[in-house]
Amino acid sequence: MTEPSKVVASRTSSSSVPSSSLATCSTASTFTMPSYGENTNLQRTEDEILLASSSKAFTLNELKSATRNFRPDNLIGEGGFGCVYKGWLDEQTLTATRPGNGIMIAIKKLKLESFQGHKEWLTEVNYLGQLQHPNLVKLIGYCSEGENRLLVYEYMARGSLENHLFKRSVQPLDWATRIKVAVGAARGLSFLHNPDSQVIYRDVKASNILLDQDFNPKLSDFGLAKAGPTGDLTHVSTRIMGTQGYAAPEYLATGKLSAKADVYSFGVVLLELLSGRKALDRTKAVSEQTLVSSLRPWLNMLKLHRIIDPKLEGKYPKKAADALALLASRCTADRAQLRPPMSEVLSTLERLQDPKFAVKQPLPRGEMGKASSSVPKSPLRCHRSPLRQTGNAISNRYSASK
Ligand SMILES: Nc1ncnc2c1ncn2[C@@H]1O[C@H](COP(=O)(O)OP(=O)(O)OP(=O)(O)O)[C@@H](O)[C@H]1O
Ligand SMILES: [Mg+2]
Repeated sequence: MTEPSKVVASRTSSSSVPSSSLATCSTASTFTMPSYGENTNLQRTEDEILLASSSKAFTLNELKSATRNFRPDNLIGEGGFGCVYKGWLDEQTLTATRPGNGIMIAIKKLKLESFQGHKEWLTEVNYLGQLQHPNLVKLIGYCSEGENRLLVYEYMARGSLENHLFKRSVQPLDWATRIKVAVGAARGLSFLHNPDSQVIYRDVKASNILLDQDFNPKLSDFGLAKAGPTGDLTHVSTRIMGTQGYAAPEYLATGKLSAKADVYSFGVVLLELLSGRKALDRTKAVSEQTLVSSLRPWLNMLKLHRIIDPKLEGKYPKKAADALALLASRCTADRAQLRPPMSEVLSTLERLQDPKFAVKQPLPRGEMGKASSSVPKSPLRCHRSPLRQTGNAISNRYSASK
């Protein structure tokens, strides 16, 4: 399987971000962040960020105890910027406990050699230390000791959406769960984009959407987050960072970043949910390597059956899948102005949770006779569901503005 790779290209330096904020691995970085509720950017020192954070400052020894010295069998994942380990803390005191006692946590240990390490760590402490929402992963604490930079998160029992969509050994997600995940992730992103927060997340992708025991999604990894444009500005200019296959074309081409770049990446995640295919497939011809380019012809022709994830085994409501395809297509429009705002994406997705879109489960064979003899027949049962009459063809277009 091919992995999407991080785009890290130094391009235009920012008009709104002072060059000092691009400094890495300095213990006294300054940082531009939005003042929530006001339309001005503030410069904050690292000390101010750490002081303002609602998360706990851990020592390295505490985190060593919580993970049994980062034992390899506690490793739960690895990304471009470091390894993630599980550990245990006492729920009340947040001190390290014996494995299996207290609450489970996830600790990300940033790679020392990572060029972006310190800046990403500080960005994450900055944003997650202040922004709280049920669809953002909770930052319990952080550690900065010598060269070491660590982040301590709530443990997300079901790991990343990426694992659930693409790992062969994992049970495929059913339709209702896919919509639940899309709605929750959209809620988190709308919260970030709202006028009080004005944060551009910049790293929307399936591996950054983590799932709890009940498949509630939470956005993680705020290392690339950025204050959105203020006043009359439509974008901030910045170095191009993100992940191939997910990054918006105008951002890749110019470095101009707006919330609509997040909408594009979110649209790519919707396409992944719909098709079960990865955002980037390097085994394909260059013109078809991104999911957007390979699915666009089918989306334009409304040939949903050519793109829908076969792992759904046909168990999805056609109208809702049609609406999801249309929404994903709008989110991934080449022109940023044509993409809907996240608030609209969210309300469209919420409508897809309407029970009228529920997948009808056929009764098991043996149960059919019993059901017809014991349950009085409702006149409604004589009518086939209109959803079923559409067959493979997408005959009922769903307007996202409905
Ligand atoms: N809070 C958490 N709870 C449970 N598992 C987690 C948690 N955070 C991360 N993980 C696991 O660790 C993996 C690696 O996460 P990480 O954010 O380091 O990398 P990534 O998102 O895959 O890639 P990138 O470095 O490009 O962001 C995730 O895919 C997930 O499986
Ligand atoms: Mg991640």
